[in-house]
Amino acid sequence: MNKFIIFLFFLFTFPQFSFGASSSIDLRQVQVDLSNTSSLQRGAKIYVNNCLGCHTLKYQRYVKLVDHLGLDKSTIEQNLIFTTDQNGERTKIGSLMINAVNKSHSKEAFGVMPPDLTLIARSRGPDWLYTFLLSFYKDESRPLGANNALYPNVNMPHVLWWMEGVKEPVDSELSNFKYISSGSMSVNEYEKSIQDLVNFLTYVSEPAKLERYTIGFWVVLFLVLFSFVAYLLKVEYWKDVK
Ligand code: HEC
Repeated sequence: MNKFIIFLFFLFTFPQFSFGASSSIDLRQVQVDLSNTSSLQRGAKIYVNNCLGCHTLKYQRYVKLVDHLGLDKSTIEQNLIFTTDQNGERTKIGSLMINAVNKSHSKEAFGVMPPDLTLIARSRGPDWLYTFLLSFYKDESRPLGANNALYPNVNMPHVLWWMEGVKEPVDSELSNFKYISSGSMSVNEYEKSIQDLVNFLTYVSEPAKLERYTIGFWVVLFLVLFSFVAYLLKVEYWKDVK
């Protein structure tokens, strides 16, 4: 029995230990709201403009954004599809959200292949993603001039520097930063944009969740109506029983 309890203890605490391995900074909490369609649309736009060039979403098709994000086909074709297929033709709306990154080139440039991000919100969690994207800072000792407080020595450049600006650590614990140049947004606006981006990645990691929400609405409505009918029946059956 005791062994079983010890086993359960490790089973439930172990994943937390392994997640903490990358760094010791506290995760910042992000509010994920999959019912906020305009936030998901903004997140999708930031993603295709800034991330898709390196990171594929290989389990997601553009056309899904019609049903899930309320976008029409021509908006997607004109504003979200910038890639071409193997024959040099514009990527079709039914295609997967992939890119043309060459494995060996990317190994040369970054030392690693940028991972696919379809499931990243499930494996790392939204709070981790949010904190990661807010934790880039200037570090001349790194090959790409940037480092990350949550993911030390990450091989990804700070691609959103033009939105956020560039910050430097004030102390060696990496707990405080000061901006040395500003970006196109205020800190507040930037955090809001990252929230949209994390919202989008959370949706991509489990699109069925949105469908479940819609089905859930009808199920609850049915239950409410059914309870009402059942109540009327009860009143009818019992009315002669005194
Ligand atoms: C120029 C190429 C490039 C662009 C553009 C880029 N990344 Fe990356 N990213 C990388 C590389 C390379 C890695 C792998 C880093 C490593 O393992 O050290 C990475 C790693 C990551 C990781 C960590 C994955 C993990 O769990 O190990 C996340 C999350 C991520 N990127 C998100 C983004 C987002 C969001 C954007 C868009 C705002 C973006 N990236 C744009 C190259 C890029």
